[in-house]
Amino acid sequence: MKRTITLLLLTFYCTIGSAQNNATDKKIAELLSKMTLEEKIGQMTQITLGTFEEKGKPGLSLAKLNEGIQKYYIGSVLNTPNRYSPDTKEWRQIMTTIHNANSKNRLPIPVLYGIDAIHGASYTMGATLFPQQIGMAATFNTEIVKKGAEISAYETRASSIPWVFSPDLDLPRNPAWSRIWESFGEDTYLTSRMGEAMVNGFEGGNIGSKYHVASCMKHFIGYGSTTTGKDRTPSIIPERVLRQFDLPIYEAAIKAGAKSVMISSGEINGTPVHASKYLITDVLKKELGFKGVVVTDWKDIIYLHTRHKVAETNREAVKIAVLAGVDMSMVPEDYSFCIDLLDLVNKGEIPMSRIDDAVSRILKMKIELNLFEGTVADPKQYPKFGSAEFINEAYNAAAESITLLRNKNAVLPLNKNEKILVTGPTANSMVALNGGWTYTWQGDKTDELVPDKLTILEAIQQKAGTSNVLYTKGADLALENEDEINKAVALAKDASKIILCLGEKNYTETPGDITSLYITAPQIKLALALVKLNKPIILVLNEGRPRLISDFEDKIDAIVQCYLPGNEGGRALAAILYGEVNPSGRLPYNYPRFPNSLEKYNRKYTESLADSEQNDDAKYQRSYNPQFEFGTGLSYTTFEYSNLKLDKTEVNSNDEIKVSVDVTNTGRMAGKESVLLYLSDLYASITPEVKALKRFEKIVLAPNETKTVQFTLNQKDLQFVNNDLKWISEKGTFKVQIGNQNKQFVLK
Ligand code: BGC
Repeated sequence: MKRTITLLLLTFYCTIGSAQNNATDKKIAELLSKMTLEEKIGQMTQITLGTFEEKGKPGLSLAKLNEGIQKYYIGSVLNTPNRYSPDTKEWRQIMTTIHNANSKNRLPIPVLYGIDAIHGASYTMGATLFPQQIGMAATFNTEIVKKGAEISAYETRASSIPWVFSPDLDLPRNPAWSRIWESFGEDTYLTSRMGEAMVNGFEGGNIGSKYHVASCMKHFIGYGSTTTGKDRTPSIIPERVLRQFDLPIYEAAIKAGAKSVMISSGEINGTPVHASKYLITDVLKKELGFKGVVVTDWKDIIYLHTRHKVAETNREAVKIAVLAGVDMSMVPEDYSFCIDLLDLVNKGEIPMSRIDDAVSRILKMKIELNLFEGTVADPKQYPKFGSAEFINEAYNAAAESITLLRNKNAVLPLNKNEKILVTGPTANSMVALNGGWTYTWQGDKTDELVPDKLTILEAIQQKAGTSNVLYTKGADLALENEDEINKAVALAKDASKIILCLGEKNYTETPGDITSLYITAPQIKLALALVKLNKPIILVLNEGRPRLISDFEDKIDAIVQCYLPGNEGGRALAAILYGEVNPSGRLPYNYPRFPNSLEKYNRKYTESLADSEQNDDAKYQRSYNPQFEFGTGLSYTTFEYSNLKLDKTEVNSNDEIKVSVDVTNTGRMAGKESVLLYLSDLYASITPEVKALKRFEKIVLAPNETKTVQFTLNQKDLQFVNNDLKWISEKGTFKVQIGNQNKQFVLK
């Protein structure tokens, strides 16, 4: 009976689903048949809102807006007004103005607004801000990541915006890259699961709902892998590597339903991705079956001409990109794209079929988003916007992301009665806690914009009382200041412990490029002055990428990485420092010790050669000796692993392998533990990785509690991409490793 009902329901939903598809296709065909070429090209054009402003004057210029919407029929707008982030009411006004201009068109196809909602609705005042993605990865908790995206979707829709340029699915290969913190870190599997969770949270399986938005995977593909570590510089990535490590991340997000994708501003092996028909059309659209919208990144068609120099003119650049498979151009400050594309189609250099394909994809997304039913939201219908409930979710996310990397002599947690010195340039800064993409592109105004949110210092003061907390800034991020160092040293004499808050300035993209991975010199000086005092130091790292601390770390007792934990991060950190929250984050990347030792955790065996040789000064000469390895993360309690079991020791090429392990909380405090399963293929015709993450699960354990965690590995987990670009597995021995346990099985 139950089965019959399920079958009936399934048939019912399938019928509804396909009826909806038919209706959508019909509507698209109808619209296409009515549209002029100019109107179609307008749909493919995205302009930044600032283009519709007049210098020095507040609000939108109707003349400029009408030019865009009524003369060029532009189909999409992005970004904030110049220099500020609106609240939901102001967003409503902006959308109403755009809608009114559009409704005067012969064929008023709704304008699709897109925004960088990067860690919450980060361009809307009053929105709930989560940790940046790198911190969300450190939670190793897909539920938290999904919930965060759901809230971000809700608050973005409350701002009348239906489309977010998120998640970031980049796979950074150089820790100096300025956008590491926008990614989920260095691992393909972790990034895939987190990306999927974010797409699910944003889209909720129904982007037409007023609580969900269309997501945009970015930046397809290889963007995070620049050889120099600087933003938008070339990458060299063999296709075999690209297919094994980068492509699966997009494949997973597409399977999860991602509706759009943004192309990488970079070049791979000499071809800018925006010019690659192979990557955009053959691989993304045909091979992966991606049916959504392909949008360029900022100005990237123009840059094919002016920066990459693969096109002699802008017209040529438009031709290359559109023929490569781009559907929408984030032009974004002029109408050159419209003018050149019109000429190209009129002269038969771009076929109408390509235009119709692009426009159909865009119309489909607009229909699915329900934009034809209205583009303006009523903020009153979003009572949970910025609510205590949402803020609490952001707090929980921050609390689960913060990663305890060292805790010598159990120097943490602190006692509220002890006198401490809080110092360092990131100790009293909301800018530092949030980083870029926070109310402004570079996130430089956060301190003035959220005066009610607590910095690390304020949160510690709130927890321990101001009389027990001494403070001085101690150092500037960039400028030398001896007086401040002296002040910190003098104050430290009255304190039993020092909380040293170091990190980075706010940045994203090219303005975040650095020439040295070491943490800045004034901060090193401060640290060196303080370690001489022989007092316990707790180093709090508040940074977007791992800045080297090897000049002084050996004299530091505790190290806490808080990444860019967002508006609630100060409170979450204070709760961890005082033991009210047990830390459970884990590093989503290898934290390097030296600038010329940037191996990843899933290195090849030849990247560790010196490890096996006699070495007097191992610390300095070993080839693989990161400061902290991927997956590092301590707790105030202890966990023991036992009883690792595999259901088979020999498997065939279609078997699954069931793995189980017992985890026990052997300490005195309840705690969360991320159980990570690594697999090693011991011998393979393509040099195998030392180990690769294949599964993870975060569990909660009370003191003395034991849980059995179960995982199932499948054949894909045993495979790699060979030189013929095929996923294959080879017979031989594999090793499963969880905690300190390991077991082998043989693939027959
Ligand atoms: C960034 C993208 C962003 C876009 C729109 C670009 O400069 O690379 O990540 O989504 O701008 O603001």
